[in-house]
Amino acid sequence: MSTQQKIFWLRLATLIGLCLPALELAWRWYTDELGPRPVTVATHATGDWAVIFLLLSLAMTPLRATLDWMPLVHIRRRIGVAAALYAGAHLLIYVLDQKWNLIVVATEIAKRFYLTIGFVALLALAALAVTSTNGWQKRLKRNWKRLHWLIYPAALLAIVHFFIQSKVKIGEAAFAAGLFAWLMLWRVLPPRLRTSYLGLLLLAAGATLAAVIFEAAWYGLVNGIDPMRVLAANVDPDLAPRPAQKVLLASLAVIAIVAARRGFAVANRLWTKRYIQRTIPTS
Ligand code: HEM
Repeated sequence: MSTQQKIFWLRLATLIGLCLPALELAWRWYTDELGPRPVTVATHATGDWAVIFLLLSLAMTPLRATLDWMPLVHIRRRIGVAAALYAGAHLLIYVLDQKWNLIVVATEIAKRFYLTIGFVALLALAALAVTSTNGWQKRLKRNWKRLHWLIYPAALLAIVHFFIQSKVKIGEAAFAAGLFAWLMLWRVLPPRLRTSYLGLLLLAAGATLAAVIFEAAWYGLVNGIDPMRVLAANVDPDLAPRPAQKVLLASLAVIAIVAARRGFAVANRLWTKRYIQRTIPTS
């Protein structure tokens, strides 16, 4: 398969993958399978997918570098746009929940801190989605990079919004925060370490520790729970899987995938060399 064909199929598969959660949600809503509070379920589902796609779009650069697979660069933009669209749908469903009363919506957004920061994150994501085209990239020149740096504070605000609305059940938010820490730490690593196994191991340790710290700090500051209890919970097998353990597993999965890809590339090179040696007679 040529590179062009590979990129075509990758783009198509990505588009389908990005649409599936929305189609599944719409279908379950249409067939009354969302339970007694469909609007709440839809608000949570669209919020979750917005965060998932936001983190996935941030993962494209590290994955491209560690897996040495250029085509990933062709799907980063559409994943980012999907994150903005899911966040937009999330707001729309919230507006529906407020019976389309825009005054109530605006007042709530201004009054409740977690909604205010969600709104700011959404504005940033919308600006990034609109200016993500080649035309805007040409028009904004060097400012395009500066503007698109906003993805980092936007993701941070989205995760803080996730934490605050989770109240006492912050497991999923702490997991997202741990993954976000991995993605940010990768960017501050010295370039030499970013693609090395040592660097990936350091990232696994750093992101796991970050998830423990986020969880302990949140429970400590917001709920007054002794951080030592949170640390103890992280080593109690009865309470597994904790967010930090999931972050560790995800980080180790990245290392396994990188090792498999590199192993496959080496085997492929050796096989090609032997094939050439066998089939092309030397003079
Ligand atoms: C104007 C903007 C926004 C509004 C009005 C809004 C509103 C809400 C509301 C009402 C909830 C549910 C709270 C509850 O049930 O107590 C929620 C949860 C959530 N929101 Fe937002 N949000 C906004 C922006 C965002 C953005 C930009 C993101 C991500 C990119 C996001 C991600 C989430 C997530 C992950 C949840 C939790 C879902 C879960 O618990 O499964 N929100 N939001």
